[in-house]
Amino acid sequence: MERAFSIFVISLSRRSPGEGGRIRVSFFVISAFACPAVVPRLRDEGGCFVICFPFCASCVTFPFMRRAIYPGSFDPITNGHLDVIERARKLFDEVVVAVAHNDEKQPLFSLKDRLDLLRETAGKIDNVRIAEFEGLLVEFARKEEAGAVIRGLRAVSDFEFEFQMALMNRKLDASVETIFLMPKEEYTYLSSRIVKEIARLGGDVSAFVPVLVARALAIKLKKNISTK
Ligand code: PNS
Repeated sequence: MERAFSIFVISLSRRSPGEGGRIRVSFFVISAFACPAVVPRLRDEGGCFVICFPFCASCVTFPFMRRAIYPGSFDPITNGHLDVIERARKLFDEVVVAVAHNDEKQPLFSLKDRLDLLRETAGKIDNVRIAEFEGLLVEFARKEEAGAVIRGLRAVSDFEFEFQMALMNRKLDASVETIFLMPKEEYTYLSSRIVKEIARLGGDVSAFVPVLVARALAIKLKKNISTK
């Protein structure tokens, strides 16, 4: 009985990781034939003939993953953040929502709590990954092989700080591009700071944050009040 099989050895090479380059795939085909069809003499002897012809069959290119970092304090995540994440994931293969170890800001929620809330909300969205980072944002982007940083731009008042940060990041690493995305109009006045203030003063924040976050805010603020 004639048998034939092939082994494909695939070699991968990548260029411009941050830019979402392409993967080059070379096929080296090693074909092994059981003897009957190949050499009549060997067939008569019942032997086997193995023919190996390693060759680079072709070089095929596949698109390489485009990844963006969406950094922030996320203290806590709001519906405005979620809106930006939804927009970003339509533009990129993967969005890494990265929480900065930003203790100078004296966050209400600990890093662990912020990460947990993100995992339970944004982390459930396809192509979204939750991470944390310490140090420079551009270093983290490089480590993650991300070519872009996403920032939400709500109003002109955001612009000055965002502009400064984007240009500084470009100076630090010109290969990382900052992309500004505008959230839905109804979220343009929304910020984590204002949500915390409303919650602290006993207002209803359920329209501004996921249910889980509203609950976490209530628990956190009650605890904070009782420890004062
Ligand atoms: O949600 P925030 O607080 O506006 O996020 C600010 C953040 C975390 C994106 C920014 O402080 C940051 O990138 N920190 C990392 C340190 C860094 O790279 N600094 C230089 C940027 S100018």
